[in-house]
Amino acid sequence: MCGIIGYTGARAVPPILLDGLKRLEYRGYDSSGMALAGAGMMAELKEVGKVARLEAALQAESGLREFTGCGIAHTRWATHGVPSTVNAHPHCDGKREFAIVHNGIVENHHELRSHLEKKGYRFRSQTDSEVIVHLIADAYNGDLLAATAAALRQVSGTYGLAVVSVHHPGLIVAARKGSPLVIGLGSGENLIASDIAALLTHTRQVIYLNDGDIAAISPESVDLRDISNVPVEREVANIDWDAAAAEKGNYPHFMLKEIFEQPETIENAIRGRINYEMGTAILNGLGFSPCELAQISRIVIAACGSSMHAGMVAEYYFEDIAGISTSVEQAAEFRYRNPIIEPNTLVIPISQSGETADTIAAVREAVGKGAYISALCNVVGSTIAREAGRGVYLHAGPEISVASTKAFSSQVAVLLLMALLLGRNRRLSRSEGCELVREIEQTPELIRSVLAQAEEIRAIAKRYAGFDDFFYIGRGCLYPTALEGALKLKEISYVHAEGYHAAELKHGPISLLDERHPVLALANDIPGRDKILGNIQECRARRAPVVAVATAGDREVENLTDDVIFIPHCSRFIAPLPTTVALQLFAYYIAVERGCEIDQPRNLAKSVTVE
Ligand code: F6R
Repeated sequence: MCGIIGYTGARAVPPILLDGLKRLEYRGYDSSGMALAGAGMMAELKEVGKVARLEAALQAESGLREFTGCGIAHTRWATHGVPSTVNAHPHCDGKREFAIVHNGIVENHHELRSHLEKKGYRFRSQTDSEVIVHLIADAYNGDLLAATAAALRQVSGTYGLAVVSVHHPGLIVAARKGSPLVIGLGSGENLIASDIAALLTHTRQVIYLNDGDIAAISPESVDLRDISNVPVEREVANIDWDAAAAEKGNYPHFMLKEIFEQPETIENAIRGRINYEMGTAILNGLGFSPCELAQISRIVIAACGSSMHAGMVAEYYFEDIAGISTSVEQAAEFRYRNPIIEPNTLVIPISQSGETADTIAAVREAVGKGAYISALCNVVGSTIAREAGRGVYLHAGPEISVASTKAFSSQVAVLLLMALLLGRNRRLSRSEGCELVREIEQTPELIRSVLAQAEEIRAIAKRYAGFDDFFYIGRGCLYPTALEGALKLKEISYVHAEGYHAAELKHGPISLLDERHPVLALANDIPGRDKILGNIQECRARRAPVVAVATAGDREVENLTDDVIFIPHCSRFIAPLPTTVALQLFAYYIAVERGCEIDQPRNLAKSVTVE
């Protein structure tokens, strides 16, 4: 949620920190700040609001702009304490000898604070994080890493932490427990960040810290230890993401760019993963032999938000294509309701970021219960990818817009491949498998044809941009698609939108319908279409305006509704993909019309690293 960047090396530090913060802004923020540490000097700058305000503040500090040495910086998404300059990170101790930036939550901060106050430490902020810097000052005895480790041993909760000190110019101490941190390795310089997007312009060589790791990072070296000060070794990973993929290019927003990337990201998700001869999928990362695959008798999917909606689409795939009983769990509930995991249950955590706290907790619960686990993540080397041990990457490239678009469609595509593999391992014939492969391969083209209608969708969105309440309805695989469409609209345009199974409308929500409540009806020509036509009639009888997504040429739907977005004919398994793209564009253009902050909607963070 919050973002961390740190740099040590010979280049001017502030521009590197500012650039990193801008690349992290998408994670969510309400304030930002940086600390620059040199021999005997500590400079600290903090501002509420956008990183641009911090940049302006730095411009006014001519003595600091070209500062060399080391520094740490942070974008904050408030958890404890309102957004304010004093609550923004970094936090310094009273003598300004140490500064920290912290992601995560210190659960025992009340008791640590009163203990430190009794010892004479004075607190300036209302944050839980500030206790850490005083604990470090209290424990310091000439060794910054040892003092940080001693402080963290007293902390319960989670942290991604970076520390600098006037006593150790050029040194950053970083530590991780439950909140991601990655070290970027350069030549004569090193970086630390909470997210690889902040490192891509500097290096592709990274070390992911594990929970419990603590590192002393100087321009020439990285010394890795565990919290008990025992040296540990971690692999150096090479990131193959293109730095340009994290730039907006000619698009006004990352969200639009990412919507338009979907034909390619779906191609990337399926490339090299199809066995044409056998009509099946090749997913080596799943890590199961055909024999083990055949033993899977139940699937439990754990995820949050859009990733959960992708899982809900896959529920139809796994049951219909592979005949495996499947349930989708809200990841936050998974560990608290003592889920039943039988010996042959496969748990599939789905997470774009691989860092969502609730989904990580679900993975740990599933591991503890002895489940087979195979994760779906986009961010290579993320916590979920590593802790699950096996799984399938989406290869969608960095998703910067807070609202998930290309990651969702890639998740659905990969889940369909998984269902194909499991289906061929069971009841699906070779010819049925080959037919499904053909359909999957057509998906990028189907999406291109939806994207080609962006202007028409924009014109429709313009007509509906003034409404404040929407219903989205669908059936079958298009029911979770409706949920996803409603989520997109509400998160970026701040318009109230509810996704419902079309049949559920009559069980309550229909009482709300009138001319002020447009209904988005997913009426594609797949099983259930006739029933949804009946539901559209019910909405119209209550004077609700209806916008349909329908199969090209469907005059019956066209005549029945106020506006239609046509998508090419496709099977029920594929329909969620082009339909979702149409709904993403609809939400995007409504948000544009309403003048909303599209890539960084208020109150939202890209990766929700607290429960
Ligand atoms: C919605 C959205 C969120 C995420 C959710 C899970 O557009 O982006 O609902 O889908 O926070 O995030 P990941 O997939 O990173 O676990």
